[in-house]
Amino acid sequence: MAQIGKDIQQAKAFLEHGQLVGIPTETVYGLAGNALDPEAVALIFETKNRPSFDPLILHTSSLKRVGQFAKEIPAPLAKLANQFWPGPLTLLLPRKAIVPDLVTSGLERVAVRVPNHPLTLALLESLEFPLAAPSANPFGYISPTQASHVNAQLGSQIPYILDGGSCEVGLESTIVGMENEEIVIYRLGGLDIQEVEKLLGPVKVKDYSSSNPAAPGQLESHYAPRKPFVLGNLKDLIADKIEKGEDFGVLSFSEHFPEVKNQIALSPEKNLHEAAKNLFAAMRTLDESDAELILAELMPEEGLGRAINDRLKRAAAK
Ligand code: TXA
Ligand code: MG
Repeated sequence: MAQIGKDIQQAKAFLEHGQLVGIPTETVYGLAGNALDPEAVALIFETKNRPSFDPLILHTSSLKRVGQFAKEIPAPLAKLANQFWPGPLTLLLPRKAIVPDLVTSGLERVAVRVPNHPLTLALLESLEFPLAAPSANPFGYISPTQASHVNAQLGSQIPYILDGGSCEVGLESTIVGMENEEIVIYRLGGLDIQEVEKLLGPVKVKDYSSSNPAAPGQLESHYAPRKPFVLGNLKDLIADKIEKGEDFGVLSFSEHFPEVKNQIALSPEKNLHEAAKNLFAAMRTLDESDAELILAELMPEEGLGRAINDRLKRAAAK
């Protein structure tokens, strides 16, 4: 298993030697390697078992450094960066040649973000190179929001996990780019798009139903538990499964079901931020419980509820 600790110098040393380290961010934990070293980047794909057509996000410590990897930042996106970095926002920017093809899967744009976590910001600040970091889970499985989640699945393959506690946001970053003059959201995430719209006006969302994914986070089945994951009206689903004698777990927004043994309410107070923060850990707990399948319901389709629902639908997709 990996060593888990808070030693930035140690994490730095592994990364400088081309190895991978689990890093905390405010969204989810990342599996990080030197983004400018094609061998380290290849190791990320191999470790995650991720198809190489799925590009990676570069993580850096400040907007000032972005000029090293991107040719320019269109003015509206610069406005977003100024307002929301460090934070759960990823920008698609025209890339410079220094970025290896493997990072962008040969695309002309590179995804960049400044994550908001003190340990990781200090690490990034101390490094001479940016970190490529996908979520630190095997491809397609639930994203990790605690160091122990990373260790459980990738611990045998990496030397070190920087432990920054539980992720505060709990959903991956919101991915934003431009097509012609239009602002486009490629992945709903931890930054509520209403915040983006307040600053820039209406945006276009390439959402869940998109049949031609620009971002493979847009793949229909993703973020998925191993057990069958069924979305619907919980009261009806529960009644049906009880009648059939099936053993199930329940993931609800706020409601408590006294008759169900394995159940988690994401936010008894109906707070969508709290629900987002708890979502992936709850899905994992139920996936590891003795229930045979997981029943879940959609959140209100507003604010972060939209991003949570995106993850729930993908988890339920075959
Ligand atoms: O919150 C996050 O963004 C986390 C933390 C660790 O920073 N990272 C993350 O990475 O979620 P990953 O690899 O699991 O998801 C990155 C998404 C993928 O869906 C990928 O297709 C998309 O970003 N992406 C990356 N580069 C892209 C590009 N050049 N064009 C379009 N989509 C891109
Ligand atoms: Mg991911």
